[in-house]
Amino acid sequence: MTTTHSDALNRVIAVSCFVFQAILNSPTFATKSQDYDKVSEWIGNGLLISRGQKWFSHRKVITPGFHFKILENFVPVFNRQAEAFCAKMERLTERSTAGAAINIFPELKLLTLGIICETAMGVGMDGGGKVDDTQQAYYTQIVEELSSILYWRMFNVFVNIDALFRLTRTSKRFDELVKKSWNFTLNMIDKRRKIHQQEEEEKKLHATVERDEEETFGKRKRALLDTLLEARIDGKPLTDEEIREEVDTFTFAGHDTTASAMTFILYNVAKHPAVQERIYQEIVDEIGADFGELTLSSLNNLHYMELAIKESLRLFPPVPVIARIATGNTQLLSEPITRGTSVAIDIFTMHHNEDYFPHAERFDPERFESTRDKQSFNPYTYIPFSAGSRNCIGQKFAQYELKTTLVKLLQRFQIRLADANFVPTLKAEIVLKPAEGLPLKFIRREI
Ligand code: HEM
Repeated sequence: MTTTHSDALNRVIAVSCFVFQAILNSPTFATKSQDYDKVSEWIGNGLLISRGQKWFSHRKVITPGFHFKILENFVPVFNRQAEAFCAKMERLTERSTAGAAINIFPELKLLTLGIICETAMGVGMDGGGKVDDTQQAYYTQIVEELSSILYWRMFNVFVNIDALFRLTRTSKRFDELVKKSWNFTLNMIDKRRKIHQQEEEEKKLHATVERDEEETFGKRKRALLDTLLEARIDGKPLTDEEIREEVDTFTFAGHDTTASAMTFILYNVAKHPAVQERIYQEIVDEIGADFGELTLSSLNNLHYMELAIKESLRLFPPVPVIARIATGNTQLLSEPITRGTSVAIDIFTMHHNEDYFPHAERFDPERFESTRDKQSFNPYTYIPFSAGSRNCIGQKFAQYELKTTLVKLLQRFQIRLADANFVPTLKAEIVLKPAEGLPLKFIRREI
């Protein structure tokens, strides 16, 4: 089958798509494993980690915040931020000697964090007061250090035990970093709350039915944070702590994953110039060679680009492993699993399985053209955004963000590896990363 081995921490690692399917659709495995409890010391019990009724009611109030009409309002932000990113790449390239390479991952983290702060948190929108670049850079460093400590806690048998971790010096550092991270998110909540209150006052003065409709799906830029501030569950608003937990969850889940995805997409197109040119040609045919305002509908026409992004997410899934815990004694394809066993879903290994992806190590966007629509293809062999009720709520958001960034970058540059033989060393600390950076060259296109 199925499950490969148990480790010293009573974990089972699943590597079969049938087991993935069984786990992701089973109420016995709806709860995240104990590893996430360590993460929750930082981001709390937001949507990613919460369970039961709390998860269900929060998912229900947050889901409309990702309606395509709302995503449509985010696209201008994707446009502007991606264009500013191109200008930055140009400046960095010009400033360096002989067009030296740029280590792209930290730069992309700043881009994706800027986007999530502005769209989901509404900070920077509607005169919402921008979070300055230094603060953002500081936050990405905090996240990096926290991820690294969490990884150590998850996979070291000693510090996996909380009481032993608490005896280490790193434990103090962990608490310090968590506080700093909260300061960043509390500051955003505070800014948005003030704007929100002002708007509520104005709304009371000029309330009309049309305006209400416009606010839900229409022209007014509405942030996820507004949804949280207005949400009522059983008639009660979310507590300050619940709001902070969701903001911490979305700020983290919404930027590190997308930066990882974009980093490896750029690596793949740099490594495969023919694919890059084909994507570029599609952009020229469907959109044009110059910067212009992209929309959901123009982005939907980029079919080949979509295949290339899919293929990159297969080879480099930003979330390589997820895990659940069995909340009762059960079976997985007739193998007994006892209550309390943690089951890891190894997305990375599945995506590299030769049985489902022939020549699995080859970057071949067209494999999705040929295999995807075949009935024989099990959809659980490819799950970069997970699947079932706990799938990624931000997947459409991420896909449009990735597409916008790639369009803008390729309109302006040819992207090349600094060293044609470079192969990134991978590190999987919650999110998949290039362990020693990923240097790329940005060569201005002559048009
Ligand atoms: C390419 C980018 C992304 C990838 C590959 C990705 C992948 C995933 C995966 C695999 C899960 C399941 C996690 C688990 O079961 O433990 C997940 C959940 C989640 N993601 Fe994403 N994600 C991405 C972008 C985003 C963005 C942009 C947002 C927010 C705007 C987001 C918010 C979330 C949230 C809140 C959950 C928890 C959902 C729930 O349990 O109800 N993600 N994501």
